[in-house]
Amino acid sequence: MIDYENLGQLNKPFFEEYKTSFEETLNSGWYILGKNVKQFEEEFASYHQSKYCVGVTSGLDALILSLRAFNFEKDSEIIVPSNTYIATILSILHCGLKPILVEPDIKTYNIDPKKIEEKITPKTKALMIVHLYGKPCDMKPIMAIKEKYRLALIEDCAQSHGAKYFGKLTGKFGEFGAFSFYPTKNLGALGDAGAVLTDDAVLAQSIKRLRNYGSDEKYYNEIVGYNSRLHEMQAGFLSIKLKHLDEINAHKRKLAQIYFDNLKDDFIKPVVEDNVFDVFHIFNVRHPKRDALKEYLLKNEIKTEIHYPVPPHKQKAMAGVILEKDFPISEEIHSTTLSLPISFYHSENEIYKVVEVMNKF
Ligand SMILES: Cc1ncc(COP(=O)(O)O)c(C=O)c1O
Repeated sequence: MIDYENLGQLNKPFFEEYKTSFEETLNSGWYILGKNVKQFEEEFASYHQSKYCVGVTSGLDALILSLRAFNFEKDSEIIVPSNTYIATILSILHCGLKPILVEPDIKTYNIDPKKIEEKITPKTKALMIVHLYGKPCDMKPIMAIKEKYRLALIEDCAQSHGAKYFGKLTGKFGEFGAFSFYPTKNLGALGDAGAVLTDDAVLAQSIKRLRNYGSDEKYYNEIVGYNSRLHEMQAGFLSIKLKHLDEINAHKRKLAQIYFDNLKDDFIKPVVEDNVFDVFHIFNVRHPKRDALKEYLLKNEIKTEIHYPVPPHKQKAMAGVILEKDFPISEEIHSTTLSLPISFYHSENEIYKVVEVMNKF
C-alpha cells in the first residue's frame, strides 16, 4: 500500500534528534515560553529575514491573533478566497468580522486578483489571502490593490513554508504572515503549533500580548487575550525540522516533477509559472471522474485525499453566515480535485508506481 501520508515515516529521520530535544526540555523543568520558543522564533524569523516571529498554538490562532491585532471595528469586511480550508474563514468570524469570499483562478486555485476590486466596499479593511497547496498567490496585482485601497494584508501561509514569488518568501508581503505547523505541513510539529511573522514592532508586541492572556507583565492584563502560546516541546521539535525545510521542499518538488513529466494529459495538473517557487504541500490533479479515480487507485493500493470535498460556502456551519452561494469555480475545483501522495518519505519509485497505475485509468 502507498499511503497518502504516514507521519511516523515522515518523522523517522528526525527521531533521534527529537528524543534528545524531548529529554533536554523534560530535564529543564521549563515547559512554557522558555528557551526553545525563543530560539525557534529567532530561527524562523531569520529564515525569512523577518524582524519578528511570535509562536502561537495553531495556524487558526495565528490568523485570529493577526486580525485581532488590527482592532478592526465589528462587521468590517475581510476579503478571503472562496476555496480555502475553513480555518481561514473561521478566523474572520471568530473576530466578529465579515468574510467576503472571492473566487479563485481555475488555473492556480488561488484567489483571482481580477475579482477582488468588485468586492471592495467602504467597510473593507483587509485582504486575507491563502497560498493554497504551497503555491504563492499572484502577489503583484494583490499588492497593487492593497496599496490603492490602503488595506491590511494577512497571508495565510499554512501550506506555503518556503514558497517564493519572484524570489520573495511567502509571509513577507503582508503586515502578517500566519503559519500552521500542523504535523502534515511541510514544516510540521508533533502536535498543534503555529506562528506569526511581521516586521512591525508594535504589531509583534500585540501578538505577544494576545497570545499570553493580554498581558505584558504576569498578572497584569492590558487587553482581553487568549492562551495561545507555542508549546515549548513543539518549538524544540520545530527547530530541528526547520534545518531540513529546504531539503523537504526540494524532495517534494522532485516528486512533483515526476508527476508533471509522466502523468498523461487526461489529468489536469497544477499550472507551472515562471518565478513562482511552489513547495507542493499538496500535489493535486483534477479529473471529471474524480471519485471513480480515487476508488480505482485505492483498489490498486494507492491512498489519496481530497482537499477539500465541500467548499466553505456549502458547509453546514456556514448556513446563515455566508449568504452568497454563487461560487461555480470553487465548486468545480472541489468536485474534481484529487491530492496524490507527495510526502517527504515517499520514494521516487513509489511516485513512478502511482503514475503507472494512474495512466491506466
Ligand atoms: C489554509 C489553511 N489555513 C489555516 C489552517 C489552520 O491551521 P491549524 O490546523 O494549525 O489551526 C490550515 C490547516 O490546517 C490550512 O490549511
